Amino acid sequence: MKITEQIQQKTEWCDQIIRRYLPEETGYAKGLAEAMNYSILAGGKRLRPMLMAETCRMFCGRTEPAEPFMMAIECMHTASLVHDDLPAIDNDTYRRGKRTTHSVYGESTGILAGDALLNYAFEVAAKGLTETEDPVRYGQALLCLSKAGGIGGMLGGQYVDVIMTGKPLDEDLISYIFRYKTGAFLSCSMEVGAIMGGASEAERQDMREAGEKLGVAFQIQDDILDIVGTQEELGKPIGSDIRNEKTTYVSLFGMEQAEKASVQLTKEAVALVRKISPEETFLPDLFTYLTKRRK
Ligand code: IPE
Ligand code: IPE
Ligand code: MG
Ligand code: MG
Ligand code: MG
Repeated sequence: MKITEQIQQKTEWCDQIIRRYLPEETGYAKGLAEAMNYSILAGGKRLRPMLMAETCRMFCGRTEPAEPFMMAIECMHTASLVHDDLPAIDNDTYRRGKRTTHSVYGESTGILAGDALLNYAFEVAAKGLTETEDPVRYGQALLCLSKAGGIGGMLGGQYVDVIMTGKPLDEDLISYIFRYKTGAFLSCSMEVGAIMGGASEAERQDMREAGEKLGVAFQIQDDILDIVGTQEELGKPIGSDIRNEKTTYVSLFGMEQAEKASVQLTKEAVALVRKISPEETFLPDLFTYLTKRRK
């Protein structure tokens, strides 16, 4: 089967898992649950839950141990998108092929829906603690998840991205922003997959590093697509970075260098996966496909 077909199948499978955990739309706060579900069900590649499940499968042959965390990471990622699109941040009106949450439900509900999604991630993850066979391992995965969403993860990166808007960046700062705003969730996805699959400490570290490299490559590609992509394929407007006066990997190093860096980091991430499992094919193929993605 072609890699694009495999990805499509796995995206649909991740969607089914996610649907099992959605918040109920009921009571006085029904509108908030609707806004949460609107943003989470709008679409998306489900890359983070996919990486988590496939990493877990690579270690133990199963995906069930990672399932509550698959929902949790997608909620955290969706929360980051809802807030990233707000007028005070990137001020974007399309996401995942639909109008952004704040532009449909209003800015205040957009802010609250992002908060509610971030918190719901931990509610779902903590619930799984009552069913796990290995509470210590589960606790380690929970810690990894909480770091990835916070100041030492996505929010730290988003903060520096926001305060440096309109200002020149050097290589160290742009690396920091990419490692945290995007790398943290991809890295956490692979690390949680490894933890729940029973990986050793050294293997966990390799998966954390692979996810981080992949995350930086993914953000470089995102910056490239903000210039050469189309709204039709991406489901979000192009030119957002230029409109917001962002220094991007492309504006700093040029298109050719950006493409090279993304390919190089991807190769390094593939090598880390192959080191653990030479027979694994899906993850390396997925990584390589992502450097050529259009959406
Ligand atoms: C978008 O992430 C935000 C970035 C980190 C660049 P994705 O491109 O994975 O978005 P969805 O989940 O498919 O919508
Ligand atoms: C934001 O980067 C990544 C997040 C943590 C949400 P961008 O601002 O470039 O993401 P897009 O292009 O809006 O998806
Ligand atoms: Mg942004
Ligand atoms: Mg944005
Ligand atoms: Mg972008």
